[in-house]
Amino acid sequence: MTTTAQPVLTTVDYFESIYAEAAGETSRIPWADGQPASALVNWLNAVAPSLIRCGARVAVVGCGLGDDARELLHRGYDVTAFDCSDTAVHWAQAIDPENANCYVHADLLDLPMKWRHRFDLVVEVNTLQSLAMDIRKNAVAAMADLLAAHGRLLVICRRSDVACETQLEPPWPLTESELLDVCEQASLALDSPICAFTDDENPPVDRMRAVLRRS
Ligand SMILES: C[S@@+](CC[C@H](N)C(=O)[O-])C[C@H]1O[C@@H](n2cnc3c(N)ncnc32)[C@H](O)[C@@H]1O
Repeated sequence: MTTTAQPVLTTVDYFESIYAEAAGETSRIPWADGQPASALVNWLNAVAPSLIRCGARVAVVGCGLGDDARELLHRGYDVTAFDCSDTAVHWAQAIDPENANCYVHADLLDLPMKWRHRFDLVVEVNTLQSLAMDIRKNAVAAMADLLAAHGRLLVICRRSDVACETQLEPPWPLTESELLDVCEQASLALDSPICAFTDDENPPVDRMRAVLRRS
């Protein structure tokens, strides 16, 4: 019997194929439910007003169908939401045509120079956990590079007590120390203690929310 080697999908191809195969059906995108992440909403209500002025520049990393970006837009922030999947970006634009120019195609690992140090807030929800260990360091460094001098990075991701990448496909939860390690390597320090919580999904998922700034 002969075996044919299967081509290994890059992260970009992996996500593009999920969005393309969903053919416009939101229910076929596992992470999209038409709602912003509740951990983002809670933070925007309770903490953001004391840290981020209204109208501030916000980047949303790996925005997918734009569920979090729309919430930020509704709150009056100047949002640039980007994703490496063309299909996701067009889909997000179709959901929110009034703000279509806020959703752009970009690869976190190859960002436009003009975005460097441009943003007061960088929001990443569920993207870091979907990147393999070997690119997380560069991914966090790229997020850090987006931050203005006084900027904050908000990370919301799955949390585990043990380091592992046993599953073939994402998500790959992070331990708190893994997150702190990659952030430290990108010269980022915690702005406040990590908030660990279990969400209200069925079944519930362990997650964490971390706010970081330049160290
Ligand atoms: C698990 S999804 C989360 C999407 C969205 N943040 C949410 O919570 O609904 C991860 C997203 O990151 C995007 N992504 C993965 N690698 C990326 C990269 N290098 N640059 C930009 N986006 C990326 C994927 O296309 C996908 O939309």
